Amino acid sequence: MRPASHADAATWYKDAVIYQLHVKTFCDGNGDGIGDFPGLISRLDYLQQLGVTCLWLLPFFPSPLLDDGYDVADYVQVHPAYGTLEDVRCFLVEAHRRGLRVISELVINHTSDQHPWFQRARQAAPGSAERDFYVWSDTTDRYRGARIIFRDTESSNWSWDAVAGAYYWHRFFHHQPDLNFDHPEVREAVLQVMRFWLDLGVDGLRLDAIAHLVEREGTTCDNLPETHAFLRSARAVLNAEYPDRVLLAEVNQPPDETRAYFGGGVGDECHMAFHFPLMPRLFQALAHGEAAPLVEILRATAEIPETAQWAIFLRNHDELTLSALLPADRDMLLQAYAPLPRMRLNNGIRRRLAPLLGDNQPRILLATTLTLSLPGSPVIYYGDEIGMGDNMALADRDGVRTPMQWSAAPGGGFMPAACAGVVRPVLPLLDDAVYGYRRINVASQDGDAHSLLTAVRTRIRLRRRHPAFGRGRLQFCAVSSPRVLAFVRQYGSDCVLVVANLSRGDETVRLQLPAGIGELATSDRLAGVELQRSGSDAAVSLASSAIGWWTAAQQNG
Ligand code: GLC
Ligand code: CA
Repeated sequence: MRPASHADAATWYKDAVIYQLHVKTFCDGNGDGIGDFPGLISRLDYLQQLGVTCLWLLPFFPSPLLDDGYDVADYVQVHPAYGTLEDVRCFLVEAHRRGLRVISELVINHTSDQHPWFQRARQAAPGSAERDFYVWSDTTDRYRGARIIFRDTESSNWSWDAVAGAYYWHRFFHHQPDLNFDHPEVREAVLQVMRFWLDLGVDGLRLDAIAHLVEREGTTCDNLPETHAFLRSARAVLNAEYPDRVLLAEVNQPPDETRAYFGGGVGDECHMAFHFPLMPRLFQALAHGEAAPLVEILRATAEIPETAQWAIFLRNHDELTLSALLPADRDMLLQAYAPLPRMRLNNGIRRRLAPLLGDNQPRILLATTLTLSLPGSPVIYYGDEIGMGDNMALADRDGVRTPMQWSAAPGGGFMPAACAGVVRPVLPLLDDAVYGYRRINVASQDGDAHSLLTAVRTRIRLRRRHPAFGRGRLQFCAVSSPRVLAFVRQYGSDCVLVVANLSRGDETVRLQLPAGIGELATSDRLAGVELQRSGSDAAVSLASSAIGWWTAAQQNG
């Protein structure tokens, strides 16, 4: 296997296995029912053992929490319920000591209306530098081409501010006024915020809602050249001052528009971008039990700059968004995965991975292993490694944001047992018969050889032995059944064959191996998978939903 070179170390994010969590719902260290940094620190050993290499923390800044912290009221402080800046420093030291990198949030498209910049702006004279930190108008006629994103709650991208006597622009909730990126002071101020967190020691920043920074008449106000220009200036700061840190773009756009956020040529914008185009196709492929939707989207998104990397995910803290799909595909996915109206939100699906896949362990493992196998770095949403469920009785997206389930003890191990029943957790713990904390928790799966947690852990460990997964090229294999996906990942001398049965029935298929593939060996105890080689062909039998990895010796190289 190819040893990691110095050049590989600089692009560490290509080998990363990322774990997404909210401090608020991960572990409560002081018994007030709210997760905090000391609690998170106490769970770092678990994360290290899980095998992930990078943590992505949802917003932990002072905020009225009307959008779970994406409504930032102070960019350079910590929400007092989660701890102090000193706690964050301590957390970074403890994470780094365990080889875990940390990605934090940079939410700069908008602030909370409680942010001092907005409070100042609404009082300031029209046309003044303070006022112009945000986007104002006397009418609601401007920028009509911009779609409404939170269409279940907002009816316009303009809201009236009585103090200012003007309308202000917002792409999300009305309490989240958009910053004005045409204003040089705004651009400079957000670069300073970026430097603040990089100086504190975070390894990367997720750029929230980054497609919508700039507005122009007669456009959708998404993906504008001026938005890309700002991202190039942010990247230039990183290249010059923080060369080992990364920018991760959250852009939920069609393939070509999403790819554009890596920048041109050598990659002069974001190092990483979430693979939003791929995500719904993974669910489509699973619903239909066929490989075509995956093959198609992977072909369309294969070309990215050398230093760029996709972040591949199944679920996150938001609804499973379908907004970039064709209406027919969207309807199909809604019918398959969200048959009840209360499962839907903003034209997406507000459910977690396990319920989406019918609490079926082989299906969950198949989906998870695909994210570990396809080109990019996988992102695991906290709790999905144990098959946590959701709570549709909670508002907005809170149903997929309930406290981590550590044990069957009162409080689920999320909060000290002595406080359970006395203090209310920040969001209710799941407590139903199927997904409740008494049945689904870390403690019960930890030592169980057959648990989802054990399987996910094993798969992560195996993946990390193969640089080909994060860095290699992808070659599809011709397969005799449309229900089976087969491909080879290759980087230097590291080469892995992946074969996945997307259907719910057993499959026996013939597949054609690319030239140069030597002897095949498995390093995993692959349940329900058998392979017989004859020359450049292989016969593979796969049980329902099985997926296998074979290390391939290379004949010519
Ligand atoms: C991003 C976040 C989402 C938030 C929105 C507005 O899409 O992922 O949770 O509500 O931005 O900040
Ligand atoms: Ca607490």
